[in-house]
Amino acid sequence: MTKKLFVKTYGCQMNVYDSQRMQDVLAPLGYQPVDDAAGADMVILNTCHIREKAAEKVFSDLGRIRKHKKAKEANGTDKMIVAVAGCVAQAEGAELMRREPMVDMVFGPQTYHRLPEMVARANRAVGRDRIIDTDFPAEEKFDHLPQQVSRQGYSAFLAIQEGCDKFCTFCVVPYTRGAEYSRPGMDIINEARQLVEKGTREITLLGQNVNAYHGDGPNGGEWTLGRLLRELSEIDGLDRIRYTTSHPRDVDDDLIAAHRDLPKLMPFLHLPIQAGSDRVLQAMNRKHDGASYREIVTKLKDACPDLALSSDFIVGFPGESDKDFEDTMQMVRDITFIQAFSFKYSPRPGTPASAMELQVPEPVKTERIMRIQALLAEQQLEFNRNCLGREMDVLLERHGKLEGQLVGKSPYMQPVHVSGLPESALGQIVRLKITEALPNSLGGELVDAPVQNRDSERKIA
Ligand code: SAH
Ligand code: SF4
Ligand code: F3S
Repeated sequence: MTKKLFVKTYGCQMNVYDSQRMQDVLAPLGYQPVDDAAGADMVILNTCHIREKAAEKVFSDLGRIRKHKKAKEANGTDKMIVAVAGCVAQAEGAELMRREPMVDMVFGPQTYHRLPEMVARANRAVGRDRIIDTDFPAEEKFDHLPQQVSRQGYSAFLAIQEGCDKFCTFCVVPYTRGAEYSRPGMDIINEARQLVEKGTREITLLGQNVNAYHGDGPNGGEWTLGRLLRELSEIDGLDRIRYTTSHPRDVDDDLIAAHRDLPKLMPFLHLPIQAGSDRVLQAMNRKHDGASYREIVTKLKDACPDLALSSDFIVGFPGESDKDFEDTMQMVRDITFIQAFSFKYSPRPGTPASAMELQVPEPVKTERIMRIQALLAEQQLEFNRNCLGREMDVLLERHGKLEGQLVGKSPYMQPVHVSGLPESALGQIVRLKITEALPNSLGGELVDAPVQNRDSERKIA
């Protein structure tokens, strides 16, 4: 009998990947994804703990789920299993269980391969258990997940590394995801091949610290990320490769050379800097300073002159002075980013920075975030405007909002819309001349017949 599974994903791309894999684990038990919690047999909230707002969202959503659960169970027979997964589960699992009696199951990012067993326990007619599993188990999750991955979009995520040993003083990730772990190289190659066979043309390799990757090679020895990229590049039908999130400390020569040598490696890199002041970077325990970041960017651009950057910024870190903030602004002006995420510092329980003195008052954070976001938006728009008249290869991935419109991604991750192409152009990489530049997207027109077409059986319906 099929059962309805509703999964809601918060937070980063790793959670998007995990949610997909949870569905892979539950599919053999008859659970089919649905896009509404009402009436579902199982609801999983795959949560994020990175900032206070993200974590709070879960509790407000649980309020809504409670109503659905009550409605479904009103007749006394139908159950709705409510599960909280992900980083809030890992960080606050026990408290969550106490506060929310209707939550049946809490499990962290490292234990979802055990879902079949958990579901069986939760479904028991008599003595139904409430389950909490927030271990960091000795067995590797990846070894116990189904070997087969389900079909993904034309652009897919592939987790290659998980966890973090860096311990930036503001960040919960090392506590919620655990120590760094890299998957063996051949497991990744196999997963990539499967995705490509099922229609994927672009793969984004994921890791909390993706360029710290050091997985076992097939014949002993270790593969770096640079080596892995070279191997993946050999896969026919895989046309575009990206990776995220990288740490400036782990950009090595091998990776820089990959950007020089591999045409499939897209010329766009998300390289979080967080701040431009050395004093703040040190207090953040970032293990890099402004000068080393600039040096890495220079090397990368020497290797790949086309390369464009995006980044993450935190404003209002404890002790950040006006001068420190101006250093960050100057860094942005000097380097220029075509896209960025910026956040007000959010104190997180258990992290060293949350106990630091000199927390920055909220109004100061607000003023700084507005200023940096204005500057970053300006740089993004300027980059987009400079694309006018250029020709770009765009991987068409989905329908746009307007009738007859398709939307894809440029090499620089900009969404690009185009009208007048047939439905069959979805999944193809087409060459477009850019005719419109908006703050967050581009518009284009076809210049040539579609390039690098695939035969029809590789298409995703
Ligand atoms: N692994 C990635 C980042 C993961 S978190 C890396 O090392 O770059 C994504 C972003 O959230 C971070 O880059 C940081 O800018 C932001 N962030 C993390 N903790 C935060 C906090 N306590 N307050 C505000 N922003 C935070
Ligand atoms: Fe968090 Fe720092 Fe690790 Fe990134 S490198 S996940 S910001 S501790
Ligand atoms: Fe959030 Fe966990 Fe990702 S805290 S950003 S879901 S690693």
